[in-house]
Amino acid sequence: MIRRSFLVGCGSYLPEQVVTNDDLALRVDTSDAWIAQRTGIRSRHIAAPDQMTSDLAIAAARRALEAADLPGEAVDLVILATTTPDNTFPATAVKVQAALGITKGFAFDLQAVCSGFLYALATADNFIRLGQAHTVLVIGAETFSRILDWSDRSTCVLFGDGAGAVVLCAGEGEGHSGDRGILSTHLHADGRHYQQLWVDGGVSSTGTVGHVRMQGQEVFRHAVARLSEVVDEALTANGLTPDDIDWLVPHQANRRIIDSTARRLKLSPEKVVITVDRHGNTSAASVPLALSEAIGDGRIQRGHLVLLEAMGGGFTWGSALVRL
Ligand code: ACO
Repeated sequence: MIRRSFLVGCGSYLPEQVVTNDDLALRVDTSDAWIAQRTGIRSRHIAAPDQMTSDLAIAAARRALEAADLPGEAVDLVILATTTPDNTFPATAVKVQAALGITKGFAFDLQAVCSGFLYALATADNFIRLGQAHTVLVIGAETFSRILDWSDRSTCVLFGDGAGAVVLCAGEGEGHSGDRGILSTHLHADGRHYQQLWVDGGVSSTGTVGHVRMQGQEVFRHAVARLSEVVDEALTANGLTPDDIDWLVPHQANRRIIDSTARRLKLSPEKVVITVDRHGNTSAASVPLALSEAIGDGRIQRGHLVLLEAMGGGFTWGSALVRL
């Protein structure tokens, strides 16, 4: 028998305010047709001025704990993937920890932009496998709207705010691909692409928060190629084929990138979870938001094999195979 991480609960939170493409067309020179055709995005949620990333994260984490039927005290590790922390320090994760009444164990933020949830999931899985944690809250939460240049139509139409969370618990498996739990995780980074998708400010460079800047076509090209590689890597590592996958839950950046990954896997569109039309790109929150929606509405069920993938600034990218 081997130690594995079981996904026992999932939850999410979206801010109330919905901003449509038509709303954006009143602010910048764009149109619903342009945005929808290039990205598949129709609307996104934007946090209220008094809502911070921690507020979104806490709401999603509470729902994940409820779904897992576990009290906050059961948690011994909180990992919060975010690019938009409340403060430069301490980690937003400790605010979440305190709000949930967790006083034991440890908590930290993790920064891998849109790949943040995959990085956090892999980190949590490794802590569990090594016996250093038993019950882990893995959260992706963003107020990405705070780092957008709202006069730049090439970026401001792409992103949204939100949070998603999962609870992982240590359990035992037999060590084969039929096991429940996280079967494997695969992470990559290539810092040569730092300035293809980045924020032009920061604590140690400008002393300002900065705004998202992006070479859209380069990002698109790399996303399609790297995501294909990393989903193949996950299947090969487990001796599985695309036919074995019940659900693809991809990072929700662009419908065309998602369709390209699905085509490569020869997956029918019914097996792909899509939220980008209503959420936009919520960075580290996108995968757990999509996962939470498909578990919540009963599409993803116990025993299903789920392939998660994401790619983001850095570049960073990763995948995970999880049997619910
Ligand atoms: N509305 C109308 N026109 C626009 C807009 C807009 N919102 N944004 C840009 N344009 C214009 C440009 O100014 C340009 O005009 P020009 O020809 O007069 O110069 C024209 O549209 C074409 O611009 P491109 O950048 O070449 O458009 P493209 O077809 O590449 O689409 C897009 C841009 C949607 C950003 C695409 O490159 C893309 O999706 N890239 C991936 C980026 C991404 O998903 N980033 C998210 C983070 S990374 C990740 O999560 C994977």
